[in-house]
Amino acid sequence: MLTTYTMPHGEIVAGLCAAQASISPKYFYDQQGSTLFERITALPEYYPTRTEGAIMQMHGQDIKASIAAAATVIELGAGNCEKARVLCNLLQPRCFVAIDISGDFLQQAVNGLRNAFPALDIRAVVADIFDQVHLPPDLPSGQRLVFYPGSSIGNFDPEMALGLLQRIRGLLANQGALLIGVDLIKDVAILNAAYNDAAGVTAAFNLNALTHINRLIGSDFNLDDWHHHAFFNAAQSRIEMHLQANRDLRVSWIGGERQFRQGERIHTENSYKYSVPGFAALLERSGFRRPQAWSDPRQWFAVFLAEI
Ligand code: AVJ
Repeated sequence: MLTTYTMPHGEIVAGLCAAQASISPKYFYDQQGSTLFERITALPEYYPTRTEGAIMQMHGQDIKASIAAAATVIELGAGNCEKARVLCNLLQPRCFVAIDISGDFLQQAVNGLRNAFPALDIRAVVADIFDQVHLPPDLPSGQRLVFYPGSSIGNFDPEMALGLLQRIRGLLANQGALLIGVDLIKDVAILNAAYNDAAGVTAAFNLNALTHINRLIGSDFNLDDWHHHAFFNAAQSRIEMHLQANRDLRVSWIGGERQFRQGERIHTENSYKYSVPGFAALLERSGFRRPQAWSDPRQWFAVFLAEI
């Protein structure tokens, strides 16, 4: 069963009209955007996905030994379900729930997963994980593991991340654990390169949000009028992505319009970077207990496990 929730267009227009214009990073992920993100994860400069994968390979048995047998694995932002394959092989759950905002993309990925794991009870839920997530009512009883890989938590500022972690505790229904991937603070040049790849895939991914918004609200953003701008903001410990106007211009949509000056930006994403103690403290503040972390030899990324 595929459950779809509609997105509020008022929120998009409010972001475009704010003094500092913004588009939520969730609007990256239409079909094309999910495909571009898949390409980002394979770029030489984009270390997070392969580093997290290496941590799961290197420390999988250790991680497994720390997780009480999970009947149900719930993945937030399951995307192409590549990481789900590794985790389901490792933990052998009875049931896997894939949650993602990109409906068609998720359905294809889940079909592939069903072929690979014919005995596994697999469910797909299309939802914005920042809103209320409605889990299927008939999940097996027993321990749950919420899996939130890829440092997607980095899209939220620490206070919002705290609220999201508290709601994740709600999904665990009093028994289970959270396994979450988090990108770490590192050399600025490495961070900047990861969001400014030479092949321009991240730029195309950023610009694609405009194509998606055009389709959603009937706006007339012209991609040639904008360019990708990404940098590490050390004071806030985050990568910021923006779209910057190449000239003075006006954008119109059904029921509204806005002028942008040359050089004016639309803020499209934050990607927060943490220290291991900093993220462990956030987990504890949100009520999780006994956080453990595994990292790679260069300490570029960490996978945390924490109990309810
Ligand atoms: C999916 C949010 C983890 O912040 O690195 C990749 C998204 N943006 N390149 C990240 C992203 C630009 C990614 N997350």
